[in-house]
Amino acid sequence: MAADANRILVAYFSHSGTTRRAAERIGTFLKADLLEIATVDRYPQEYSAVVEQAKKEQRSNFRPRLATRIGAIEKYGTLILGFPSWWGTAPMAVFTFLEARDLAGKKILPFCANEGSGLGSSIGDIKRACPRATVLPGLSIRGSGIASSWGAVEAWLRANLKL
Ligand SMILES: Cc1cc2nc3c(=O)[nH]c(=O)nc-3n(C[C@H](O)[C@H](O)[C@H](O)COP(=O)(O)O)c2cc1C
Repeated sequence: MAADANRILVAYFSHSGTTRRAAERIGTFLKADLLEIATVDRYPQEYSAVVEQAKKEQRSNFRPRLATRIGAIEKYGTLILGFPSWWGTAPMAVFTFLEARDLAGKKILPFCANEGSGLGSSIGDIKRACPRATVLPGLSIRGSGIASSWGAVEAWLRANLKL
């Protein structure tokens, strides 16, 4: 199926809800569809356990299996891609997602929830994972959430989607 350049999907991975809330608000604002990037094996809720697991997965360049069925992404021309910073880049499940399909010709607009390290190496890592996509400027969402940063999010969407 040919992708429609104007069709937007908000795809996100979230562990504790910050990215999910941002993705939902963006989805409502754009009237876009949402897709949660979920893994078959769920991450522990306990903070130190998930931090340890994430570190190990990053060190071994692991690709967790996804529970999400992603065939539908083919019809979208633009993917807004939300994730938390995990050790300075996206969680490995995001790379499983990006590598699962040829994203040639699609636009990707990444945003990253974090507690201070900003986008880290996520944008370069995303570009390497899908070299045939056009990765637009990323947005860092710092702290506890979308409420205080909505103005910046909306400006970023308007600038990059030419709304
Ligand atoms: C495994 C793990 C690693 C993290 N690594 C970083 C980091 O490197 N830099 C940072 O600023 N925040 C880091 N954080 C904090 C999260 O990025 C931040 O709390 C984010 O808002 C969580 O998004 P979520 O609620 O959608 O999961 C980390 C959190 C976890 C659980």
